[in-house]
Amino acid sequence: MRIVVLGSTGPTGRQVLNTALQRGHDVVALARRPDALSDLAHDGLAIRQADVRVPDTVTSACRDADAVISALGVRRGAPAGTLSAGARAIVDAGPPRIAWTGTFGAGASARRAGLPYDVILRLVLGDGFADKSVADEVVTGSQGTVFHPVMLTGGPATGTATVVPLDLLDRSWRLMPPKVSRADVAAAMVTEVESPAYAGRTVAVY
Ligand SMILES: NC(=O)c1ccc[n+]([C@@H]2O[C@H](COP(=O)([O-])OP(=O)(O)OC[C@H]3O[C@@H](n4cnc5c(N)ncnc54)[C@H](OP(=O)(O)O)[C@@H]3O)[C@@H](O)[C@H]2O)c1
Repeated sequence: MRIVVLGSTGPTGRQVLNTALQRGHDVVALARRPDALSDLAHDGLAIRQADVRVPDTVTSACRDADAVISALGVRRGAPAGTLSAGARAIVDAGPPRIAWTGTFGAGASARRAGLPYDVILRLVLGDGFADKSVADEVVTGSQGTVFHPVMLTGGPATGTATVVPLDLLDRSWRLMPPKVSRADVAAAMVTEVESPAYAGRTVAVY
């Protein structure tokens, strides 16, 4: 498959790149700063400059994709609407499959991750907290799959992460959610675009 990866320079995006390349896919990494990927040489990898604030740089790169995976993220102070701009730029290209990284505790899983974590998320994300919800809806509205991972770590892939649609998740956390490795989340997203099981839905990953 030809898989385009948005947010490829972040730690989760890196794991998506590694997983997709290991599985033999042709990967196009979108990066604001292509130099940030200069250490990653692979025959199956192409790198394109793109910024979601210039939506056509993303949309044009996604037009011939079999799938798009996003690990786009923002911190407090990022321009308002960055996440939803990224989601719309992908959806406008009409790729057959989309896997999008949201956050457990924001959007459809709000208030399920624990009160302290909720406070932290709102502080860290700023305006991005509300924009996550908008972006998620853009993606599910286009039959993409939104992933809501709990706290992310740099640990190895374990293959033991649980992926479950939010509407079937029978648990919440009172203080803080558990942790899951970025490598496990990346593997789950690549698997979803290879064989969609949750199109149009939001899934928790923990
Ligand atoms: N940290 C956690 O525990 C946790 C838990 C659950 C979910 N999440 C979510 O998981 C996602 C990935 O998080 P992460 O910590 O791996 O990554 P991150 O550090 O948030 O990296 C964000 C990525 O988005 C890119 N980006 C930001 N603005 C952009 C723009 N205008 N145009 C193009 N690319 C842009 C960054 O590029 P640059 O390198 O150019 O900045 C980077 O590649 C985020 O949505 C985050 O909220 C995080």
